[in-house]
Amino acid sequence: MRILGSYPSLRMRRNRKSDWIRRLVSEHNLSTNDLILPLFVREGTKKKEPIKSMLNVFRYSIDELSKVVEKACKLKIPLIALFPYTESLKKDQFGSEAFNPDNLICRSLRTLKKRFKNDIGIMCDVALDPYTTHGHDGIFRNNEIENDETIESLIKQSLLQAEMKCDVIAPSDMMDGRIGQIRSALDKKGYKNIQIVSYAVKYASNFYGPFREAVGSKKKLKGDKKTYQMDFKNSLEALREVALDIKEGADIVMVKPGMPYLDIIKNIKDNFKIPIFSYQVSGEYSLIQNGIKNNIINKDAIMESLISLKRAGSNAIVTYFALEIADQLK
Ligand code: PBG
Repeated sequence: MRILGSYPSLRMRRNRKSDWIRRLVSEHNLSTNDLILPLFVREGTKKKEPIKSMLNVFRYSIDELSKVVEKACKLKIPLIALFPYTESLKKDQFGSEAFNPDNLICRSLRTLKKRFKNDIGIMCDVALDPYTTHGHDGIFRNNEIENDETIESLIKQSLLQAEMKCDVIAPSDMMDGRIGQIRSALDKKGYKNIQIVSYAVKYASNFYGPFREAVGSKKKLKGDKKTYQMDFKNSLEALREVALDIKEGADIVMVKPGMPYLDIIKNIKDNFKIPIFSYQVSGEYSLIQNGIKNNIINKDAIMESLISLKRAGSNAIVTYFALEIADQLK
C-alpha cells in the first residue's frame, strides 16, 4: 500500500479527535445480530446452578431456561445453542442417551419451540461427548474413535433433533465425512430446510476446560481429543477442512476457539464466500471474566475481544457474554 501524504500535512490523529468522528470512520461494529447465546440445561425444576469455573454462567432446568430464552428473545438475540448436562447414570459407552426422544435436549426443544415458535433460532450440538462414559465425541473402540460407526450415531442424533424442530444442526465432533452423510440423511427424511453449521475447524484446544465441567465430561474424559480435533500448529489444514465441508453441504462454518485463531478466521474469509461463525469458548470467557473480577482488565475488554472476532471476518459469535453485551447494546 502506498501512503499518500506525510506529516505534518497528514495527521492520522485528526480522524480520532472525538467520539463522533471515531463512530463515523469505524470499520467494524458489533450488533445484537452478531450474537449467539450458548446455554446449559439440566434436570429438575426451578434450578439455576452455578458452574464453578464459569462466573455468571449457569445450568438451568427447563422452566428456568425458558425465562432466559425469553430474555434473549426480547433482546433480539437471533440464535441460542443448547448443551445438556447429563446425569452420570444416563451415560454409557455409546452415548445412547443422545437417541432418547425424552432426553434433556429433546424436551428443551419441545418446550422452547412451542413457546417461542420462530422468534428465536435454536442450534443443537451433534456429538456424543455429553452422553458417553469416556467423554469422547464418538464411539470408542480398541483405543480409538471409530469414524464411520460414529457417523451412524451422529445421523441418528441429527434426525432426532430435526424431528424435535431444531432449526440448526451443529456437528462439533470432527469426524471425516459426517457433513455429507448428515445432509443426505436429513434430505431423505424431508428436512431440507434444516441448516448445518459445521464445526469445520475445531482445534484440540486447552481452552475447553470450563465447558467440560459444565456438561460434566471433564473428569470422565479418557486421554485427549487429538486424533480428531485439529492440531493447533496447523493453518492450511483448516482450509482443507472448510473446502470439504462446503462441498458436503455445510451452510455455515464454525471456527473454534476464537481469539487464539483470528488468523484462521481471516484466512477462511479471504478464501471462501461462506458465512463464518466463531466460538469464544469457555476458557476464553473465564479468563476475561476473572480478569475483570480481579480488576486486572476492565469490562470493555469484552467488547474488544468480540470486535476482534468480527474484524477477522466472523459473521456472528457464539459467546457466553451474549446476554450482557446485548443488554449493553440496547
Ligand atoms: C464438544 C464440544 C466442546 C465445546 C463445544 N462442543 C468441547 C470439546 O470438544 O471437548 C467447547 C465449548 C467451550 O469450551 O465453550 N462436542
